[in-house]
Amino acid sequence: MVSKGIILSGGTGSRLFPITQVVSKQLIPVFDKPMIYYPISTLMSIGIKEILVITTPNDLEKFENLLKNGNQWGISIKYEIQNNPNGIAEALLIGEKFIDDSNVVLILGDNIFHGNDLANRIKIALSKNKPTIFVYPVKNPSEYGIVEFDKNQNPVNLIEKPKNPKSKFAITGMYFYDKYSIKYVKELKPSKRNELEITDLNNVYLSKNNLNVFFLDRGDVWLDAGTHVTLMQASQYIQTIEDRQGLKISCPEEIAWKLKFISDKQLKKLALKYKNNNYGNYLTNLLS
Ligand code: G1P
Repeated sequence: MVSKGIILSGGTGSRLFPITQVVSKQLIPVFDKPMIYYPISTLMSIGIKEILVITTPNDLEKFENLLKNGNQWGISIKYEIQNNPNGIAEALLIGEKFIDDSNVVLILGDNIFHGNDLANRIKIALSKNKPTIFVYPVKNPSEYGIVEFDKNQNPVNLIEKPKNPKSKFAITGMYFYDKYSIKYVKELKPSKRNELEITDLNNVYLSKNNLNVFFLDRGDVWLDAGTHVTLMQASQYIQTIEDRQGLKISCPEEIAWKLKFISDKQLKKLALKYKNNNYGNYLTNLLS
């Protein structure tokens, strides 16, 4: 069982400059919502109601203004700061108090997941009761953490941004860990680029034969919106599907209401906030 989630929304977003020079990457829009709504929705859709957002000292106030304490969506959102971009694995150290011996999911603030029944399949993956990572085929594996397999398709090694990737399966930015993750991170040495690498932590679990590598389906969608091109692609994807179906992807208000984290009355109140636009109309229409 996982009930706590950490969203890492730090970094300088330098690959998106000048867009992200004065605003955090995870606050810029992916079509009709701020980027961080997507990982929040992913966490909420699997029933996670305790969320820690880790961000930079500069961006903290903006995240707090946007997301508040989570009550409006029937969840709890707390905040911590990552002072320097010391690596993804550092998020677990920063979140030590929040994690407090529980299992935890760590998700990157720029990772967008979408797929039919995806929440249930994530739950099925977790029913093995093992630390779990999710992998997805990509055309450009050298830009990601990659899984190497033996002849029998068993994962044997995880490599961060290999020059000559031996598989096309990228490790997505959603990692489920048990209570030992903090202890293992404390034993990691910073990499050549001076970061605590999440791939090194995952390799610790793999070497202990305690890592479930779950393949997302071909019909699933995993996008990261970290460059100008992928940001635009993500926006276009969301717009295309939402416009075609008239249904929103990763709308935290809708997810909160559907999962009964909030009542009809609370949803109505949220809808009124945006009463003059398409987002508000969408929320109002959910109720009719
Ligand atoms: C990070 C991880 C990488 C992972 C990717 C997913 O890379 O280091 O292993 O595949 O996220 O988005 P970054 O985006 O920080 O370069």
